[in-house]
Amino acid sequence: MILTLPGVLTPDQASSFRRELGDAPWTDGRITARYQSQQVKQNRQLNERHPLARRLGDIILETLERHPVFMSAALPLKVVPPLFNLYAGGETYGDHIDGAIRPIGGARVRTDLSATLFLADPDSYDGGELVIEAEGEARRVKLPAGDMVLYPGTSIHRVEPVTRGARLASFFWIQSMVRDDGRRTILYDLDSSIQACALAGSPDQATISRLTKVYHNLLRQWAEL
Ligand code: NI
Repeated sequence: MILTLPGVLTPDQASSFRRELGDAPWTDGRITARYQSQQVKQNRQLNERHPLARRLGDIILETLERHPVFMSAALPLKVVPPLFNLYAGGETYGDHIDGAIRPIGGARVRTDLSATLFLADPDSYDGGELVIEAEGEARRVKLPAGDMVLYPGTSIHRVEPVTRGARLASFFWIQSMVRDDGRRTILYDLDSSIQACALAGSPDQATISRLTKVYHNLLRQWAEL
C-alpha cells in the first residue's frame, strides 16, 4: 500500500525546518549507501548524528506518535531516527532498493516501510519526483511541504533529477509489528472502516464491537513484538 499523509507538519513548521536546514553542513549522500546504491546515488545528506538532524527528527517522531492514520497504517514497532537530504543542480538517485536491515546504536531495524516527508514547496523546484514501482506500475509522488508518503520497503524506487531549485526532504524507515504489506493493508482497511462507522454515529454498536474484535484478533495473530 502506498499512502500519502497530508499535513504531518504544518506550513509554518515546514518553513522553519527549511530555514534551519538552509545553513546545515550537507555532505555527500553516498556515505550511507551500500555499494550497489552508491553507483546511482548523487545527493547531499545531513550527518545522522548532527544535533540539528536529531532535534528536527525528534519533532517528526513526536508528531507521528500522535497521528492516528500513521499509527494505523504503519503499526510501528521501531523507527529509524529521521534523516534529511537535499537534491539540487541535477542531483538524482536512480532505481534502487533500500537495505533490509539498518543498524541504529546497538540495535537493528527491519525496513518494512519507507517514509519520505517533503519539506520544499513543489513549485520551488522542477523534477525530484519520488517514483515507486509497486503492483506492476510506477507511482510518481511529489507532495506539498509538510506531507508524507509511506510505502513498502520492498519496492524499487528512485528520485528524478532536480533540474531547478532544491528538493529538501526527510526520510526514514519503520519496522512494523506486522511485517507483511498485504496483512497491514487488511488491518488498515478494517480499522479505517470501523472508525468511519463510529464517526458516522452508527446505531449498531453490537456490529461495531464484533468488527473491533475481529481487528484485534487478527492483530494478535499477526503481530510480532
Ligand atoms: Ni531509497
